[in-house]
Amino acid sequence: MTRLLFPTRLFETALSDTALLEDLEEACWMIEDGDEAGHRWCEEKGYPGYTSYASLDDLPRRAPAFAELEGQLLKQAGRAAEELGWDIDAKDITLDALWINILGEGGHHPGHIHPGSVLSGTLYIAVPEGAGDIRFEDPRLARMMAAPPLLDTVEEDQKRFVYVAPKPGELLMWESWLRHEVMPGRSEEPRISISFNFGHRA
Ligand SMILES: [Fe+2]
Repeated sequence: MTRLLFPTRLFETALSDTALLEDLEEACWMIEDGDEAGHRWCEEKGYPGYTSYASLDDLPRRAPAFAELEGQLLKQAGRAAEELGWDIDAKDITLDALWINILGEGGHHPGHIHPGSVLSGTLYIAVPEGAGDIRFEDPRLARMMAAPPLLDTVEEDQKRFVYVAPKPGELLMWESWLRHEVMPGRSEEPRISISFNFGHRA
């Protein structure tokens, strides 16, 4: 018998409320349009598109669609915490950050983790044909000193990198230590997503 130890969870949920998704898309463009500080930051940092990450920390107060989304995300985070077996009170999970990402052609986001958070994730709003996948990395990779290469035919749970091609309305959530990367897109149409970090109020 083979036992599986320390599996990594990726929580996938499809948000079926199309009216909410449409309202969020509209709100993303409205906020993008008015966020001069954000555009300046993107320009200075060479961000390949627009993000509100560094400029706005109050999206739920700026548009009702974001307030509605906050409630839905908190519910999903509570479910994830339960599945992870966390011995905490769901009401101590806090939405610490919520931000918009709009990536254009060639737009990507290099590999990173979200330090200081417990759960992170992204809701996909617009994913045109050719938009970049999100790639997750085996968290044990740095310890694999002499691990041989893998056959192409291995199952997903054995792979060292897993690519997910997101669909509009798809919500992905993972533990914040899981390293991930947005692969370069080949679409001229914008790829719109909303990302978030949850913390734990101890
Ligand atoms: Fe990220």
